[in-house]
Amino acid sequence: MTTIGVLGGGQLGWMLALAGYPLDLRFRFWEPAPGSPAGRIAEQVTAPYDDPVALADFSEGIELATYEFENVPVEIARTLAQRIPVYPPPTALETAQDRLNEKRLFQHLGIPAPRFALADTWEQLLEAVEEIGLPAVLKTRRGGYDGKGQAVLRERSDVERAWSLLQGANRILESFVPFDREVSLVAARSVRGETVFYPLAENYHREGILRLTLAPAPVLSPAMQARAQEYMERLLQALDYAGVLAVEFFACGEELFANEIAPRVHNSGHWTIEGAETSQFANHLRAILGLPLGSAKPLGRAAMVNLIGAVPDTATLLAVPHASLHLYGKAPRPGRKLGHITLRAESREALDASLTQILSLADCAPGGEGVNGPSH
Ligand SMILES: Nc1ncnc2c1ncn2[C@@H]1O[C@H](COP(=O)(O)OP(=O)(O)OP(=O)(O)O)[C@@H](O)[C@H]1O
Ligand SMILES: [Mg+2]
Repeated sequence: MTTIGVLGGGQLGWMLALAGYPLDLRFRFWEPAPGSPAGRIAEQVTAPYDDPVALADFSEGIELATYEFENVPVEIARTLAQRIPVYPPPTALETAQDRLNEKRLFQHLGIPAPRFALADTWEQLLEAVEEIGLPAVLKTRRGGYDGKGQAVLRERSDVERAWSLLQGANRILESFVPFDREVSLVAARSVRGETVFYPLAENYHREGILRLTLAPAPVLSPAMQARAQEYMERLLQALDYAGVLAVEFFACGEELFANEIAPRVHNSGHWTIEGAETSQFANHLRAILGLPLGSAKPLGRAAMVNLIGAVPDTATLLAVPHASLHLYGKAPRPGRKLGHITLRAESREALDASLTQILSLADCAPGGEGVNGPSH
């Protein structure tokens, strides 16, 4: 029986473990926070990432390591990699941890992306504003997630406010992309070099947090899918990648601009559990174990709605046709992802009535922050 060590212990890890149990896999998670979603169902080392004793405890007896969270110290991944296989490669983790490296990689590979400039000092920021123009987005280079560590600059008077908001971190300024839609591509590449691509999914955010994913993306041209796959292929090759990789894009008409990469399973791929022949979680495990990958073909149409800040009543949610519920067991807190619902049906029409119901339930949950949808 193989034991896989996973850095991070959130809901992504929980779903990885759930996908791994039918393959007789065991999991050990390293997660500083007690009571994590993954710790509910698997062994958890609960300690800060700089604890050397925890590193020894974690690595004892694991055959392979991976991540479910990208802001883990890359040194841990490198230390582990001296002894056991670590996938995705630590270089991919290092690249994704710093928006500057990420953008440089896009540039190097000829993948269109928003224009950017360094903004570490006040003078640099002023120069960057001159160069990039407004509107623009100031972002911390490291540590951002769910839209945290970002400020949108619409007019000159926003420059100072954004500067004081994001003090004490390295920053970049990037051009604000007036996108029509946001889409993401999830792919899996195995250590043997086999690759599968899921269809592009369309994503709706509110306050920087993913609220709704429609998959496959409703107005998807084969040319756009092909272009996204070509960009993905370049990234997979350049990073000598194994595992699941997600790329977020801004779509302007038929053009795609890469926003960021995630070297792990991705929230916009949760629909694959019910909505694809093989889930992103199962394929991540197959990929890092060198097993044959499963088909990424969608089964009809799917919609995934994140439950943020509060969870509506379980029975009410499950009464909605086509609904599958995933609750992460986390304490409610504003802006926190507590669970998700996937709807799956043969056609978009069959899905729409259910989606309207779920969106209004998620909107009305006490403390819920609502969901912006295409026509909702
Ligand atoms: N340059 C930009 N132009 C327009 N919108 C943007 C830009 N950058 C970010 N956004 C908006 O903010 C959202 C979050 O940004 P981004 O993906 O960079 O942050 P994040 O904190 O890493 O989020 P997550 O980890 O949840 O994907 C984007 O999905 C998009 O809606
Ligand atoms: Mg993002």
